[in-house]
Amino acid sequence: MRKGKVIAVAGKGGTGKTAIAALLIRELLNAQENEDVCILAVDADADSNLPDALGISYDKTVGDIREGLLEEKQRDVTLDIRSQFEGRIAEIIAEEEHYDLLVMGRPEGPGCYCPVNHLIRMIIDTLTKNYDYTMIDCEAGLEHLSRRTTRDVDVMLVVLDTTLKSMKTALRLKEIAKEIDVDVKKLITIANKIPAGSDKRIVEAAKKYNLEIERIIPFDPLIPEYDANGIPIMDLPDSAPSVIAVRLIVEKIL
Ligand SMILES: Nc1ncnc2c1ncn2[C@@H]1O[C@H](COP(=O)(O)OP(=O)(O)OP(=O)(O)O)[C@@H](O)[C@H]1O
Ligand SMILES: [Mg+2]
Repeated sequence: MRKGKVIAVAGKGGTGKTAIAALLIRELLNAQENEDVCILAVDADADSNLPDALGISYDKTVGDIREGLLEEKQRDVTLDIRSQFEGRIAEIIAEEEHYDLLVMGRPEGPGCYCPVNHLIRMIIDTLTKNYDYTMIDCEAGLEHLSRRTTRDVDVMLVVLDTTLKSMKTALRLKEIAKEIDVDVKKLITIANKIPAGSDKRIVEAAKKYNLEIERIIPFDPLIPEYDANGIPIMDLPDSAPSVIAVRLIVEKIL
């Protein structure tokens, strides 16, 4: 039996969710080097960046499958969407040695067909049980929580940076997670891109918003440098300050 632990990385746009999700996968694998650990990476952002951060290419998204099936259903009303879905999702999972990647792609369009989205959630809930960890790189903001694309999360990492806007979003995320029917077992607030010497200031600033920052990831010039040169964040050196900080987060999660 796999552990089936679901970790979601959420927060305001640009706070560093994707970079952190990639580094978490890397450090989760490193921390359990001797074990046969398997991780499912889910890019739940319509503007998919996680594949680049991981350095993997992919073919199709869950959104593509949904659109394709809806078109087929229009031609063939007897089509059993559910059984088709399961098989086709399995086909589009990109496989690496110790982790797999599923890209969600575009969310439902104007012709939203809610049962299909419900099916997607069910299938993902089933999929996560085949992995030790599922790492979800959420889309920016709050919508995914309200739409409940994220369900039964063991650990939700709420990322903020030095901006007040990102703190406000973090606070709202915390409040919404409590209100709605998503079971978030543990919530960890993380400050990212923090310049040297600013740790205390950011912790105090967050306190004013009732946020307790539990981990800090420093501003690491290698991350924008890798991004600018199209090098996967996953390939950062072990000694990079951001990698060391994420290692501490993994210890907390484990
Ligand atoms: N610790 C860090 N130090 C320096 N720069 C960082 C750090 N983390 C992320 N960045 C930079 O911040 C920008 C946003 O990072 P990233 O794309 O991971 O954020 P995101 O929250 O996933 O954004 P989006 O909401 O658009 O998906 C990128 O340019 C990245 O290079
Ligand atoms: Mg992102």
